[in-house]
Amino acid sequence: MARPLPATESVSAEISRNLALELVRVTEAGALASARWMGRGDKNRADGAAVEAMRLSLGKIEMDGLVVIGEGEKDEAPMLYIGERIGTGVPPPVDIAVDPVEGTTLLSKGLPNALSVIAMAGGHGSLYDAKHVAYMHKLATGADAAGSFNIEDPIGVNLQRIARAKRMRVSALTVVILDRPRHEGLIKEIRDAGARIKLISDGDVAGALMTAIEGTGLDVLAGIGGATEAVLSACALKSLGGEIQCKLYARNPEEKASAEAAGADFDEVLGIDDLVRSDDVFFAATGITDGEVLSGVKYHMNWAETESLVTRSRSGTVRRIHARHHWGYKSREWLGQPEG
Ligand code: FBP
Repeated sequence: MARPLPATESVSAEISRNLALELVRVTEAGALASARWMGRGDKNRADGAAVEAMRLSLGKIEMDGLVVIGEGEKDEAPMLYIGERIGTGVPPPVDIAVDPVEGTTLLSKGLPNALSVIAMAGGHGSLYDAKHVAYMHKLATGADAAGSFNIEDPIGVNLQRIARAKRMRVSALTVVILDRPRHEGLIKEIRDAGARIKLISDGDVAGALMTAIEGTGLDVLAGIGGATEAVLSACALKSLGGEIQCKLYARNPEEKASAEAAGADFDEVLGIDDLVRSDDVFFAATGITDGEVLSGVKYHMNWAETESLVTRSRSGTVRRIHARHHWGYKSREWLGQPEG
């Protein structure tokens, strides 16, 4: 099992308001700006539109924000780069993980489950710094199977434990996995164990959310995906009551050696409390394209509608917010650049 953090290692900062309610305006802005690019085959411009809109609205929040998971290092990203300070600079101090478009290829092809996502955790040093490694092994479930599995055990054994916790047969479980050649062996093991599989082409934050939200019919997220997405998924699951365990993954010996030189430990199991070392975590996601978790942006003559999921771990409150946005009241930057 993941090593629980001793209380002294947990980072905390008193936060007197629900920042998630402010964060949802940020992901709404990202989704509204980037959804204009749905299906246009240009993931960079779609991502750029979301980055600009989100940066603008994030800057207005009263906080001392530090981007820990962002668009890359300072020299490769003009905004929302790792280490950028955002907000008005006053307390509370918060770490920020942001993915303006989670699933850029999904959006550029008009496929389901592209999301605009952000999370914040109280206290600097509270989010796992994933900059030395690109990928992680992941195993995640919703609240009903939390505490029942161990990523170090074979997947077949874990599926039996998860099925028992959920009072289901293994054959009724559905496992979400990124459709990648690297998962050939894992897929075979899951098939041999008798569980069902949903292969997704991208978007494993949505995959993790699906396991924790009733009505999706999906039970487990397994496989190797982005390390930054693992931190975002942990933030979401912390409020939804689910669990995620991860281990670092290197694509080749050189990548492993350079990550190890920077202090990475490829044997360590990272539990949800290692990925998010704070008890006050805020998460917001807005649908860009339609999916199992959220509806995508719909544009109308003078307005647009969005659907978002907003959570706070301290209260355990989970909100779904369906919003109407009227063009007449918004700035052009906030809405992206309506064209054609
Ligand atoms: P982007 O939004 O950056 O394109 O990431 C999409 C994604 O599918 C993630 O959800 C996932 O964790 C990661 O890419 C998997 O990486 P890869 O495509 O290299 O297998």
